[in-house]
Amino acid sequence: MATLTIDAVGLRKTYGTRTAVRDLTLQVKRGEAFGFLGPNGAGKSTSIKMLLGLVKPTSGRALLLGQPVGDREVRARIGFLPEHFRFYDWLSASELILFHGRLCGLAEDALRRKVPQLLERVGLGTQYSKPIRSFSKGMMQRVGLAQAIVNDPEILFLDEPTSGLDPAGRKLVRDLIREQRERGATVFLNSHLLGEVEQSCDRVAFIQQGNVIGTHEMGAWQADQTEVEIKVARVAPSTLERLEQFAQEIRLEDQMLRLRVDGEDRLPEVVRCLVASGAEVYSVVPHRVSLEELFLKTMGPDPGL
Ligand SMILES: Nc1ncnc2c1ncn2[C@@H]1O[C@H](COP(=O)(O)OP(=O)(O)OP(=O)(O)O)[C@@H](O)[C@H]1O
Ligand SMILES: [Mg+2]
Repeated sequence: MATLTIDAVGLRKTYGTRTAVRDLTLQVKRGEAFGFLGPNGAGKSTSIKMLLGLVKPTSGRALLLGQPVGDREVRARIGFLPEHFRFYDWLSASELILFHGRLCGLAEDALRRKVPQLLERVGLGTQYSKPIRSFSKGMMQRVGLAQAIVNDPEILFLDEPTSGLDPAGRKLVRDLIREQRERGATVFLNSHLLGEVEQSCDRVAFIQQGNVIGTHEMGAWQADQTEVEIKVARVAPSTLERLEQFAQEIRLEDQMLRLRVDGEDRLPEVVRCLVASGAEVYSVVPHRVSLEELFLKTMGPDPGL
């Protein structure tokens, strides 16, 4: 069994003179929850559509579950919640899920038992017979989530799954991602809600103007870069110079010393240096760098579209 569920090398998509995705090279392991993050227009949805075989790459290649993208047998083992979906809106919620289950080749009896459970799971247990054209945005999104998991997919692609969802709906998405992973599925998630991504993903990649510009293990950057606030008194200018061997971005305002160290294990040295130089230390508070802060720092100022 392939250990990589996604293995893309140099995928590129151009529309006329516009390059939507320049170079998508990434590997996602089986069972991983992978966050794919970038500003509007960066190429996230186009990347997902190339991986699914819905958009033909201009160049490059990719394997999904060990097979070239677009393979029919593999498609039945994938779940997809598109960013902008247009379902047949004369169908009821249960008819729509049945339809998608049949497309995946699921056995009719098992499918009929499963549909009400799925609709219950996404909070639409009482709405199963209404035509989905009467649904609100969030209700439609919940139907979309149910159809994406009807086949217990091995890879679940979610493009902005929390779009239009209320707080309970956002928690539902987090819980569904957790449940799918517990089953052994790989989850590939596009989202602008970085707090949600931080809670759900093991690893993230940043994409900017069609290029993957970095991948990070969740939490690893926090171990590498720690910002610290130290409440101090009697800090001489020469002490600040001495601190430069252990820390960066050193700023002292009133009694608050702010600096950055390469990991928390550098902190005792900083405190020792301060005390040895005659400073008084009242408190040391490390600050976790959030995914949002890392994102904004990596992406730089918003260039506009
Ligand atoms: N069918 C298309 N024809 C022409 N240009 C396209 C097409 N689809 C996407 N693009 C362009 O490709 C670029 C990437 O679009 P894409 O939808 O992949 O971005 P995204 O990262 O998903 O953005 P968002 O966060 O806004 O959803 C954009 O500049 C977009 O205008
Ligand atoms: Mg998109």
